[in-house]
Amino acid sequence: MSSAAPASLWGGRFQGGLHPVFEGLNQSLPFDRRMIHEDLQGSAAWAQALGRAGVLEPMEVLEIETALSDIGELVRSGGTDLETSKAEDVHSFVEGALVARIGPLGKKLHTGRSRNDQVATDLKLHLRGVIRELVSGIAVLQASLVDLADKYADAALPGFTHLQRAQPITFGHQCLAYVEMLSRDAARLESLAERMDTCPLGSGALAGTAFAVGREAIAEALGFSGPTRNSLDAVSDRDHALELAFACTCTMLHLSRLAEDWVFLGSQEAGLLTFGDSVSTGSSLMPQKRNPDALELLRGKVGRVHGSLTALITVTKGLPLAYNKDLQEDKEALFDAVDTTTVCLQVAALVAQDVTLDVERAAGANAAGFLDATDLADLLCDRGLPFRDAHDRVGEAVGAAIDAGTTLADLPGTARNALLPELAGVDLHEALSVKKILDRRDVIGGTAPSRVRAEVMLWKERLGAKP
Ligand code: ARG
Repeated sequence: MSSAAPASLWGGRFQGGLHPVFEGLNQSLPFDRRMIHEDLQGSAAWAQALGRAGVLEPMEVLEIETALSDIGELVRSGGTDLETSKAEDVHSFVEGALVARIGPLGKKLHTGRSRNDQVATDLKLHLRGVIRELVSGIAVLQASLVDLADKYADAALPGFTHLQRAQPITFGHQCLAYVEMLSRDAARLESLAERMDTCPLGSGALAGTAFAVGREAIAEALGFSGPTRNSLDAVSDRDHALELAFACTCTMLHLSRLAEDWVFLGSQEAGLLTFGDSVSTGSSLMPQKRNPDALELLRGKVGRVHGSLTALITVTKGLPLAYNKDLQEDKEALFDAVDTTTVCLQVAALVAQDVTLDVERAAGANAAGFLDATDLADLLCDRGLPFRDAHDRVGEAVGAAIDAGTTLADLPGTARNALLPELAGVDLHEALSVKKILDRRDVIGGTAPSRVRAEVMLWKERLGAKP
């Protein structure tokens, strides 16, 4: 089926046609056609509204609705020229297809409606589905990370601050850190969906429509909680696009941090993580190489998504009320941000589902670097020493151990007697074992394996409870 109607919706006052170069720049169909089903849905709601307003007879409303739904079916089966049409945008395409199907009656549908309130409505309808998909992509990644946390709830490895060895943590605890970040990302998306839950249709070009269309009923038919309250704002508001681009950027930023942590842990210098073949790549030159390209792409793609956010902010800054064609520029940036984030969430889940920690090596890595120094100070505090003094003493003990080329637990007798007399007779190997150090952090939010397991249970419940 061809749209077979004039490619333009506004030719009346013009004599000449568009220059083909400008026509190309002006055309948004190649990227707004992904909103075709929302445009059809909005159009059907508008047909009903015109029925309420007495512009269309009930039979006419029905005929338009049927034609719109037939067009939707044809689009699904690939039976239209949507991919190649020269129509200016998705709205022109749908109207053209309607007129081609039912003739002059199709031309009545745009009564009292503008593409300005139409596109604002389409975009909000479309973003609803997008948000649902992103939230479920986040949940899949969270579930993969929770499984990993479950598997490695008590696997110790060095934790870092400033990328310097700090204290032992469990790998499970580290995995759950990303689960927390992602839960805020999902919450951000869900609250954005609530804020965007008002229907612009019936705002006309900028001043509101002159027909008694019943805006509450339109909003209800399209599943919005109510109509927008100011037509000027409604046709020019793109806050939801900005917020979504930020939500994508923030999610990508979290993925990039996970990526960086895992690239590091997977490096031969750390040698702690191995990634599955299906997400690793080789070198065209160096036969021995095994590169974490998947993670590096997750880390790199945030630049692109952040670029989209910057583009959207730049496009909307200083725009006068109400609609301006600049706003057509919202879609490519936003859709690219959404597409990139969607695929990156999937790839992150694939990586998480096939990563292996070298548990023995990870545990052994805690031996060097005095990761037990804080706990030694804590032991002194248990004996009544003020923490500041304990910190000083252990600092000196670290210096003495470095000089003697040993660990805190094996501090030479003289240094130990001078610096740690309160701990005389205490088996420091036992008291400063990695297991003890981890188990001591049995607080809400702590890295103790028992806590990690409890959090894993909680997350499994929460994620299982999602529809
Ligand atoms: N393709 C346009 C967009 O995406 C639709 C609105 C056009 N409105 C107009 N007055 N030219 O923004």
